[in-house]
Amino acid sequence: MVLQWSLFFMYICIKVTPTEASSWTAAVPSSVKGLLGSCVVIPCSYNYKEPQKYPKTFTGIWYNDNNQVICHSDASKTSSQFRNRTKLLGDLSKKNCSLMIDKFTKRDAGTFHFRIEIKDYELFSYSKNKISVSVIDEPNPIDFFLQDEVKEGENVSASCSVSHSCPTYPPSFIWSHSGEKHDQTQQLQNDQWKATSTLTFHPNRTHHNQPLQCRVTYHGGKHQEQSKTLKVKYAPVNVKAEYQSDVNEGETAHLKCSSDANPVSSYEWHNETGALLNKGQTYTMSNVSRHSEAVYCTAVNEEGRNRSSTVKLNVLYPPDIETSSKCFSEDGVVKCECIVESRPPSIVHFVLGDRVLQSTNVETVGSVTTGTLQTDFGSFNFVHCLANNTLGNANLTLSLPANDNMQNIFIASGAGVIFLIILIATGVGVVKKCRGRSGETPTSDLDTMKAERPVELPRYAPTKRKEDRKDMSCSDIYANDHVYGNTDCDESIYNNV
Ligand SMILES: *[C@@H]1O[C@H](CO)[C@@H](O)[C@H](O)[C@H]1NC(C)=O
Ligand SMILES: *[C@@H]1O[C@H](CO)[C@@H](O)[C@H](O)[C@H]1NC(C)=O
Ligand SMILES: *[C@@H]1O[C@H](CO)[C@@H](O)[C@H](O)[C@H]1NC(C)=O
Ligand SMILES: *[C@@H]1O[C@H](CO)[C@@H](O)[C@H](O)[C@H]1NC(C)=O
Ligand SMILES: *[C@@H]1O[C@H](CO)[C@@H](O)[C@H](O)[C@H]1NC(C)=O
Ligand SMILES: *[C@@H]1O[C@H](CO)[C@@H](O)[C@H](O)[C@H]1NC(C)=O
Ligand SMILES: *[C@@H]1O[C@H](CO)[C@@H](O)[C@H](O)[C@H]1NC(C)=O
Ligand SMILES: *[C@@H]1O[C@H](CO)[C@@H](O)[C@H](O)[C@H]1NC(C)=O
Ligand SMILES: *[C@@H]1O[C@H](CO)[C@@H](O)[C@H](O)[C@H]1NC(C)=O
Repeated sequence: MVLQWSLFFMYICIKVTPTEASSWTAAVPSSVKGLLGSCVVIPCSYNYKEPQKYPKTFTGIWYNDNNQVICHSDASKTSSQFRNRTKLLGDLSKKNCSLMIDKFTKRDAGTFHFRIEIKDYELFSYSKNKISVSVIDEPNPIDFFLQDEVKEGENVSASCSVSHSCPTYPPSFIWSHSGEKHDQTQQLQNDQWKATSTLTFHPNRTHHNQPLQCRVTYHGGKHQEQSKTLKVKYAPVNVKAEYQSDVNEGETAHLKCSSDANPVSSYEWHNETGALLNKGQTYTMSNVSRHSEAVYCTAVNEEGRNRSSTVKLNVLYPPDIETSSKCFSEDGVVKCECIVESRPPSIVHFVLGDRVLQSTNVETVGSVTTGTLQTDFGSFNFVHCLANNTLGNANLTLSLPANDNMQNIFIASGAGVIFLIILIATGVGVVKKCRGRSGETPTSDLDTMKAERPVELPRYAPTKRKEDRKDMSCSDIYANDHVYGNTDCDESIYNNV
């Protein structure tokens, strides 16, 4: 009976023992690479056979193959080569034996193992679980990701990642562009870590062909960069139609369209109402005239289209004097208005008799120049308007209003009345050969005008009185044959002396 019980007990024991997970094992990677001057972390977890009583005090020690103490729970027992540079990162009581070595040097490289000393229990060296720690002079290359081509305004993410072995002080990232930056570190299967920085930004056309750079700085100061040129697609902007500033009427104008776009634009030309005139970067307008329509160009690419402002050629042409030009009387004052259309604006002057007179007032609105002359027109029946610009000249004869002209004569020759009375009194014969003024039309051209001589007012045969103006006719003018040998009641009376 006792044997049966003891067998049963043994059976229990045999059954239970394998279920007891605890044993003297450690888990470390077989090798780790440390960046020179930076830090290296050796991930480590260990296990021990569970004692009866839960242990309280643990001492962890890391050795290398030379039995140098790389790290000791009691820092003073760490070998001077490693003192202040090594640290047990984990909590030993939680079976974590992770080790960090800072300012890693070439001398530090070697094969390490861990040893645990549990107070009032056992001491154990995990010499079967060795880790080889080597040094690398330069960091691992940057893994840079950026799409080959992005679109303006799109949400674009670029990322930059590096593998490293110092999760305590992960590398820092700096991007050459502003944006939303997000950094993270993840553990890789080979007991290395991967630090990734992601930049989200909205590229615009000013970023096209600019490098996007990621700079990685490792703990300890080493750094490296990688960059890639941004290729930003954008719809055309700054669409301009270029053309010669001035073109003479009848000549040919060459217009060229330009724009800023990626990919490059194709071009179209339209008139103001939007009708398509031509496709292509240039547009030729032959035989331009002052009436040539305004045009604009449109730049098109796969991202969109945009147009230039409307351009109207500055067509140059010689002056045209408008037939609406005239002389008129206003509040008893005679004015002559000469309306000239030309580009560039003309200089407008007048010829009265053989005198060249400047316009008393000039007004230019667009291509229309209005020259006004206000002067003493004497007894002239017409005045000539001359207009010139760089391309040519024009002239037009303007009739002066009859009545007002006469009135001027009266005013001007007021002094002559006395002379007339004297003439009558002296019994000089009266000439009545004159025609009526009213039916008269000026016919002389400028060349004959030039032959005219300046007026000599005192010699005029004056009218009797102002009140007589209404029935004024040539018969009222008394003149002396001797003085007015060739008289004819138009202005030649006064001139052809
Ligand atoms: C370690 O640091 C302590 C103070 O923090 C300093 O006194 C000591 O000299 C350092 N030892 C080494 C080997 O750098
Ligand atoms: C050990 O401790 C370190 C530092 O606290 C920690 O990062 C690591 O995850 C721990 N390892 C385990 C297996 O818990
Ligand atoms: C762009 O990305 C940011 C961050 O990922 C997000 O907050 C935002 O909503 C996104 N915008 C658009 C238009 O997708
Ligand atoms: C392009 O984006 C930058 C910011 O990244 C901004 O300062 C600039 O004004 C933008 N330019 C245009 C043309 O949108
Ligand atoms: C057209 O170009 C102008 C600048 O030249 C820009 O401001 C505008 O946004 C563009 N329009 C479109 C629809 O791209
Ligand atoms: C534009 O061109 C169309 C077609 O040639 C024509 O019918 C239209 O009159 C033009 N518009 C202007 C403002 O010139
Ligand atoms: C140029 O245009 C004018 C009208 O604008 C026309 O009278 C003339 O014949 C044209 N000349 C040529 C060479 O086409
Ligand atoms: C127009 O004619 C006047 C006088 O004949 C001359 O002084 C002036 O330079 C000319 N102007 C132009 C633009 O040809
Ligand atoms: C006036 O114009 C005519 C043509 O319209 C021209 O023959 C004449 O020479 C011009 N006279 C002057 C002085 O310019």
